[in-house]
Amino acid sequence: MSVITEIEDLRRLYARRVPKMFFDYCESGSWSEQTFRENSSDFDKLYLRQRVAIDMAGRSTATHMIGQDVAMPVALAPVGLTGMQHYDGEIKAARAAASFGVPFTLSTMSICSIEDVAENTNVPFWMQVYTLKDDDFMQRLFDRAKDANCSAAIITVDLQLLGQRHKDLKNGLSAPPKLTVKNIANMMTKVHWGLGMLRTKRRFFGNIVGHAKGVQDASSLGSWTAEAFDQSLNWDRIRQFRKMWDGPLIIKGIMDPRDALEACNVGADAIIVSNHGGRQLDGALSSIRALPAILDAVGDKIEVHLDSGIRSGQDVLKAMAMGAMGTHIGRAYVYGLGAKGEAGVTDALNIIHKELDMSMALCGHTNIQAVDRDILMIPKEFNDAWA
Ligand code: GLV
Repeated sequence: MSVITEIEDLRRLYARRVPKMFFDYCESGSWSEQTFRENSSDFDKLYLRQRVAIDMAGRSTATHMIGQDVAMPVALAPVGLTGMQHYDGEIKAARAAASFGVPFTLSTMSICSIEDVAENTNVPFWMQVYTLKDDDFMQRLFDRAKDANCSAAIITVDLQLLGQRHKDLKNGLSAPPKLTVKNIANMMTKVHWGLGMLRTKRRFFGNIVGHAKGVQDASSLGSWTAEAFDQSLNWDRIRQFRKMWDGPLIIKGIMDPRDALEACNVGADAIIVSNHGGRQLDGALSSIRALPAILDAVGDKIEVHLDSGIRSGQDVLKAMAMGAMGTHIGRAYVYGLGAKGEAGVTDALNIIHKELDMSMALCGHTNIQAVDRDILMIPKEFNDAWA
């Protein structure tokens, strides 16, 4: 195996090792994928200001996210079907995050259940919550997260309906995969993946099967989101969820300053500027471009984080310099997981940390908490006023 030095190396290995259906699920945006692409390419439009002859010894990337200590401002974002990328994937990713000292977030749409992850890890994780119609399910989800000692809940507010990803429909995405001739032929070329899957019982949506009533087909993301998700979600409903959970709360999926201000009124501890990795509204701005206006609108009313598009430590540095207080990575760690299991997630975290630490130093800083817009060159059109 060639030496792994960047996230792209993990991505290439991941593409070879994991069935196409799950690779495509991770590596897709909705419709034309414009937003998915620009989430990453817009980071390239921000330039870093090199400084020299500044003491760069004794550096630290440690900071806090929602008051919790983190070794670097990079949490693992909730990613659906992570346990299909590698057997027991959520447990493996949670362990790698815990050893590194960053938060792991479990998706409602995970394969390993909340209880599975809690039993197999010893550091509290964050729980992501989708907004379903079923109140009883919602209350129990928050209660289960509390019993599992989760140290924050993240409510995702941008998925009342699932953005269309063409490849998922064409591939017939499901968990576990349906045993069609095409799927079997593809899975037979993924020997390590298949042997792992045979070793585990965790092959279904662990938080849903046996917990959600009236869901006819819990193997298909498309059909159960269409049946169970609350299309009439509004801010009053989100306030009801706030009452169901008395711990730290993060609201994920904010792209507009008006929504950011609404989120401040809910009593959340943080918001995540996010377009769901370009998987929901195609044609939306990239998150990094949406960030400045949201920061201006909320001031110091709430902690602002960012996800979508981060594939390197330089991207993390740019988001932090712009004013975010933390970032979340999804695909960047899933590539590592699919490529090498827990060790691959650790590789992804080490790569991003090294890039963040060295780039920060080359910008003349030794402490991530002191980095600000002074290190950035932001093109004039980046924060355009739109007609
Ligand atoms: C679910 O969150 C998805 O984006 O597929």
